[in-house]
Amino acid sequence: MSTLPKLVDYSEAELDQAFKKLTAEMYADLENCNSESEAEAFRIKWLGRKSGRLTTIREAWLKEAPKEARRYLGLLFNNLRETIEEYAVSNVALAKGAQVVPVGSASTVLGRIRQREADAKLSAERLDITLPGLQRPVGVKHPVLRVQDEIVAVFKAMGYSVGEGPEVETDYYNFESLNFPPNHPARDTQDTLFIAGQDSRPARDRLLLRTHTSPVQIRTMEKQSPPVRIVIPGKVHRNDPLDATHSPVFHQVEGLAVDTNITFCDLKGTLDHAMKALFGSSVKTRFYPSFFPFTEPSADMQVSCIFCGGKGCRKCKFSGWIELLGCGMVDPNVFEFVKHNGYDSSKISGFAFGMGVERITLLKYEVEEIQLFYEGDVRFLEQFA
Ligand code: PHE
Repeated sequence: MSTLPKLVDYSEAELDQAFKKLTAEMYADLENCNSESEAEAFRIKWLGRKSGRLTTIREAWLKEAPKEARRYLGLLFNNLRETIEEYAVSNVALAKGAQVVPVGSASTVLGRIRQREADAKLSAERLDITLPGLQRPVGVKHPVLRVQDEIVAVFKAMGYSVGEGPEVETDYYNFESLNFPPNHPARDTQDTLFIAGQDSRPARDRLLLRTHTSPVQIRTMEKQSPPVRIVIPGKVHRNDPLDATHSPVFHQVEGLAVDTNITFCDLKGTLDHAMKALFGSSVKTRFYPSFFPFTEPSADMQVSCIFCGGKGCRKCKFSGWIELLGCGMVDPNVFEFVKHNGYDSSKISGFAFGMGVERITLLKYEVEEIQLFYEGDVRFLEQFA
């Protein structure tokens, strides 16, 4: 075992030089250990408690060092110690599982440590440029939502604002304030899903899944005095069995305009413009007498058949027309419920309409079955991308 040189002045230069030598010596030892016993000999030589090299250094240099040199000396010493401890551990481990070693620098334990580090680095950075890239399909809006947004945009362009309301509604908003008196047969036209267990509540407070977006008419008028121009998109529920064109859950866009001197003419002009914006300028509209408790007069609006242009085909049952939405002039009885907020039917009037979004989407994209909108089949949906 080589002895330690004596230090003269403990200057940084002298210390640097001394530790450089020690480090070189340590690496040379490391290069030479190839077996478990050699690895153990390395450990004893450098880390041995009684006469290991580090202990000797501590005794010979650290204890003798003048105060000013101690910090720097300590630093170099700790550095060397940490390096040695690290190697001693992996050294023994590697030597124990010593495998067939390739030639060159990898023929020593240190060589193997370095080799292993380099291999790990390489495999972490491995990149197979022949693989195809990751495909990230771009999501798109669901066709129903897309058409709903389109309808809303058409009315926004005419100065309408957009509103919303709750899907779980009270009997009062869904029926009573829309002029469906309790037990009135008109309620039967909207097969309602009621929330269970509310028998102790007064009838008007009982909860149900809204059957249409019309309750938001009243909710809007309670909050806002006339004039009003609003569209309300949203989900509605009816106890309807699913068939090609009906679903128990579907979407509507409601519209309401209230002001002085609003006439049926405004209703017709507005809806005719909206249909042309949605289906193209050659589409025609017509209004057919109908009944809703909350409009008077009421109408069903029909559009000339999108498929045959009005000549008559299977889709329009050879009538040339397709029924699309309900509408009418707001019934004065409805205004009675919000009279306190400026809705005096001797001074103002209004119109309302409600359209089914799925129905319009079916027509626009010539889809045969409403179920396709809810099944979530990507092969169907990606056609709208
Ligand atoms: N709420 C009616 C329905 O769902 C449609 C409608 C809205 C009719 C507004 C007239 C006025 O059938």
